[in-house]
Amino acid sequence: MNENETIRIIKQRRSTRRFSEKQVSEDDLNTIINAGLYAPNGGTDFEKNVYFTIIQNENILNKINSLAKEAAGQSSFEWLKDLGSNEQFNCLYNAPTFIIISVKKQSESAVYDCSALTQNMLLAAESVGLGSCWLYFPLQAFDKDMGLVKELKIPQGFKPITSMVIGYKEDDEINVPERKTENVRYIK
Ligand SMILES: Cc1cc2nc3c(=O)[nH]c(=O)nc-3n(C[C@H](O)[C@H](O)[C@H](O)COP(=O)(O)O)c2cc1C
Repeated sequence: MNENETIRIIKQRRSTRRFSEKQVSEDDLNTIINAGLYAPNGGTDFEKNVYFTIIQNENILNKINSLAKEAAGQSSFEWLKDLGSNEQFNCLYNAPTFIIISVKKQSESAVYDCSALTQNMLLAAESVGLGSCWLYFPLQAFDKDMGLVKELKIPQGFKPITSMVIGYKEDDEINVPERKTENVRYIK
């Protein structure tokens, strides 16, 4: 198998859930966002249809954590309920930077576009020595408080679709278990 630099970064990236307090530089964030913009997308005017919200304010991060946990506490899923009521649990993993990716509500390929873009960003983060984790959980905060969209100045007509935390990894060594599949068939 070919093991070039791109393949190495793809395999090395794993969700990081323990971060140091050191903040991510704007330069690195620009690199990461730029990588997102080069993802494949199903729409026209992609750059105009996607909106990035980068949150580094501790009070707002705490508010999102609390609102998301409150929403999870009311979920019909037991595992979400348990996390919502777990005082030790911080759904942003105390990361210094949280990014929300929103897209224009009417965009039909929104979920696909955001997913491809998010993965590009996670890989870019890994490539500049940062840890990251794709997150669904904190987006529940928007179910609890729709005013949050306004507070975060997400433009009208845009809807948060994916989110991620980014920061320096607290643990240098990350276990990368081998992933194998036999579910591949060539038809020649
Ligand atoms: C759509 C999506 C939502 C996710 N939401 C969360 C989340 O809310 N919290 C979390 O800790 N991890 C979340 N993850 C990360 C997954 O748990 C993780 O990617 C998966 O276990 C594989 O591990 P790896 O990223 O280390 O390869 C999410 C991943 C995806 C793709």
